[in-house]
Amino acid sequence: MPTLRRILLRIAQGLLALFLVIQLIRKPMDNDKEAEGPKSFAATMNPPVKVLRYLRDGCYDCHSNHTRYPWYAHVQPFGWIVAGHIRDGKRSLNLSEFSTLSKSAQNKRLEYMLDAANEGDMPFWTYRMLNPNSPPSPTQMAAITGWMKETLAAQNTAKSEANSSVK
Ligand code: HEC
Repeated sequence: MPTLRRILLRIAQGLLALFLVIQLIRKPMDNDKEAEGPKSFAATMNPPVKVLRYLRDGCYDCHSNHTRYPWYAHVQPFGWIVAGHIRDGKRSLNLSEFSTLSKSAQNKRLEYMLDAANEGDMPFWTYRMLNPNSPPSPTQMAAITGWMKETLAAQNTAKSEANSSVK
């Protein structure tokens, strides 16, 4: 008749074995590509250094081809979760391949980035907790969103001028 102690020991052994086995199932890590090549947001939009630093520190890990993998990405199941974020993040916004989007898709992305910056809901709080980069001060943040707003306004003016010259 197994005692409760024995049952718990078995469960613990089972969990440990499972943990060891899942370490063998790894997602490929993809971090050796250039983040700021000719197709990048940096090259396409030519943002001020402040904006670039904000994106590099806070966003490139999931939104560019240059991810700095954290140590816990080498431990499963956390590696799988990280890989999922990177896959989904790059699918919706890849700052290394920004110029491959149409002009209007670029503007849409920039609008979303402005919303994300205003609302502070990107990156996720879990990422912020594990990656204590010092976040931009409110003044720096205002300069960053200010540049995004100006750029969007300039694009919209250019668009309406182009439209009116067609008429
Ligand atoms: C930990 C990974 C991670 C980091 C870091 C991160 N994001 Fe994201 N981001 C995601 C994921 C995943 C999605 C897709 C969410 C979904 O599919 O619902 C996303 C979506 C977005 C979108 C929405 C695009 C759309 O099409 O709606 C924007 C904009 C965005 N992120 C901006 C940012 C900005 C700006 C930063 C830096 C300040 C940032 N993200 C940092 C993972 C991240």
